[in-house]
Amino acid sequence: MPDLRSLSDGIYGDELDRRIGAAADAIRTRLTPHGDLAVPRFVAVLGSGLGGVVELLDPDPRIVIPYGEIPGVPVVEVAGHAGQLVAGRVAGTPAIVLSGRAHAYEGYSHREATLLLRAVLDLGADTVLLTNAAGGLNPAFDAGDVMLITDHINLSGENPLLGPNIDRLGPRFPPMTDAYDPALRDAALEAAGRTGVELRQGVYVMLSGPAYETRAEMRMLRQLGADAVGMSTAHEAIVARHAGRRLLAFSLITNTATGEEEEGANHEEVIEMGRVGAARLVTVLGDLLPRLA
Ligand code: HPA
Repeated sequence: MPDLRSLSDGIYGDELDRRIGAAADAIRTRLTPHGDLAVPRFVAVLGSGLGGVVELLDPDPRIVIPYGEIPGVPVVEVAGHAGQLVAGRVAGTPAIVLSGRAHAYEGYSHREATLLLRAVLDLGADTVLLTNAAGGLNPAFDAGDVMLITDHINLSGENPLLGPNIDRLGPRFPPMTDAYDPALRDAALEAAGRTGVELRQGVYVMLSGPAYETRAEMRMLRQLGADAVGMSTAHEAIVARHAGRRLLAFSLITNTATGEEEEGANHEEVIEMGRVGAARLVTVLGDLLPRLA
């Protein structure tokens, strides 16, 4: 029977399931000699400039696996992304940090871009932490702010669950209400309070990029109810919730994107202001993560 699906890369259904399994097996093989590291309790995905989160792992052991050594996983190319999996422990609890992510704007489908995260979810990881760099649509936000994501709008034009459902991973029609776990959000706000970091809160909208938004698009996104705009995260949030995992996510506001700026965003500014926010976020996570363990 000819396959009439329009998913042109052929990576869906049984083939996607096989690739997720193969990537999970490769990671498991590397981590099994290190005992419980092969069964992580949580996974963190790091956006641009957030490599410092790796330092929240206990110094020893840290097992580094470059993405290029995991079969079927896109190799990350964009500046500011390391492209490696780091396994370790946070206050004794096994965790995996994905330092760098593949983006749809590089030409990957959402199915490919989320393949590595799904492989890690296959190993375990009941809690997923997502981070990104984003433009601030909310006029109250400044570059350098950290926003706790309360909800998202997926305007990327795609969905990682397109294609036949992989039933062993989750249901065909997963609910996305309260996708960003209310109890985890409360815990994050408490951690921010204890560490004296001011957290913004708001809705993240994902576009495909890679072009930044026009002024008209920024105004439209604001009117739609979004507070921050970026090119990632929502697709990962969808696979995490499909798999029934607890989800927490943060945006580093690297630039304002209200439409009133004299000049638009540029990648250098995004990396530079990401550093400011990253230091704040690492402070909050340093308090929060050991409590989640
Ligand atoms: N728009 C989209 N993505 C981004 C931005 C932005 O202004 N800043 C950082 N990532």
